[in-house]
Amino acid sequence: MDKGVATLLAKDCCAEKSIYEQPKMMASYLWSHYSDCWNDPESSSAYNEWAGLLGEISGLSLDAGCSVGRFTFEMGKRSCLSVGVDMSRAFVEKARELCMGGSVKVRLPMEGLLEDEIEVALPDHLCSGRVEFIVGDVTALPFKSGIFNTIASLNVIDKVSLPLAHLKEIDRVAAPKNAQLLFSDPFSWSSQISPPQNWLGGNTGGKFSGYAISNIASLLVGDIPSGIAPWRIENRGSVWWKIRTHRNHFEHIRSLYLKAVRP
Ligand SMILES: C[S@@+](CC[C@H](N)C(=O)[O-])C[C@H]1O[C@@H](n2cnc3c(N)ncnc32)[C@H](O)[C@@H]1O
Repeated sequence: MDKGVATLLAKDCCAEKSIYEQPKMMASYLWSHYSDCWNDPESSSAYNEWAGLLGEISGLSLDAGCSVGRFTFEMGKRSCLSVGVDMSRAFVEKARELCMGGSVKVRLPMEGLLEDEIEVALPDHLCSGRVEFIVGDVTALPFKSGIFNTIASLNVIDKVSLPLAHLKEIDRVAAPKNAQLLFSDPFSWSSQISPPQNWLGGNTGGKFSGYAISNIASLLVGDIPSGIAPWRIENRGSVWWKIRTHRNHFEHIRSLYLKAVRP
C-alpha cells in the first residue's frame, strides 16, 4: 500500500513502465473519459453508450483495464461495489484521487509547449462512493472465482501480451449465473505488444484466423478451454470512441462490442 493504492500483482509479474504511465497519456485518457462532463464540443458519447448496453446491475462489478476510471464510476452507480483494475499505477492513483476528492487538475496539451490547465470534476451522478481502484493484471486477476455479476473489458484485449489469458480470467471471475459481460475492442493488434500467434484474430491461418470478434464470440459461447459456464451473446455492434492528443489531433476509433450473459 502506498498513497492508499493497493497493488495486487502476482509475485513473478513485472509491471514495467508502460506508455500508460506517461503524463501525455494521462491527459489523453482524462479527456477521453470525462470531456463530456464539461461539455467539450469534441467529446464523444462512448462511455454513455457502453453504459446503456448494460442490463440490470446488482452485486459486484469489475472494470478490467479501467484506466482513469470512467466506466468503473458508471457501474458504481448501480452496483454494491464496482472495482477498477489497471496495470498503470499513475492511472489508478488518478482515478482514486478523483474518487476521494471529487476533482483533479489536468494540463491538456494545446499546441507544442502550450497547455491549458482544467479541472475535471466528477458529476454528482457518478459519485456513488461504491467504487475502488487497484493496480492489478487483467491476465492474472487477484480475485477468487465466480464473484462478479457485471464485467466490462473495454479496449484492453489488444493491449495485453496474453489476450486469451485475459478472456479466461474474465470467464473465471464472472458469476456462473446472473452475470453479464460487456466486451469491446478495436482489435488494433500489434506485435510490439504480443506476437501474432497470441492474437485472437487478424491472422491469415491457425486457430485464430479471421476476425477476432467472431473468434471471441465462439470462445464465449462454449469454446473457452476450462470455461466454467457458456455465455449467450445477447447483442453486438460498435461504438465510436475518441482519444485526444492535442487540440487539433484526435484518434477516432471503432470499438466492436459483444454483450454476453449467463442468465
Ligand atoms: C487502451 S486503454 C483502455 C482503457 C479503458 N478501458 C477505456 O476504454 O478507456 C488500455 C488500458 O489497459 C491497461 N492495461 C494494459 N495491460 C494491462 C494488464 N495486463 N493488466 C491491467 N491493465 C492493463 C492500460 O494501462 C490501459 O489503461
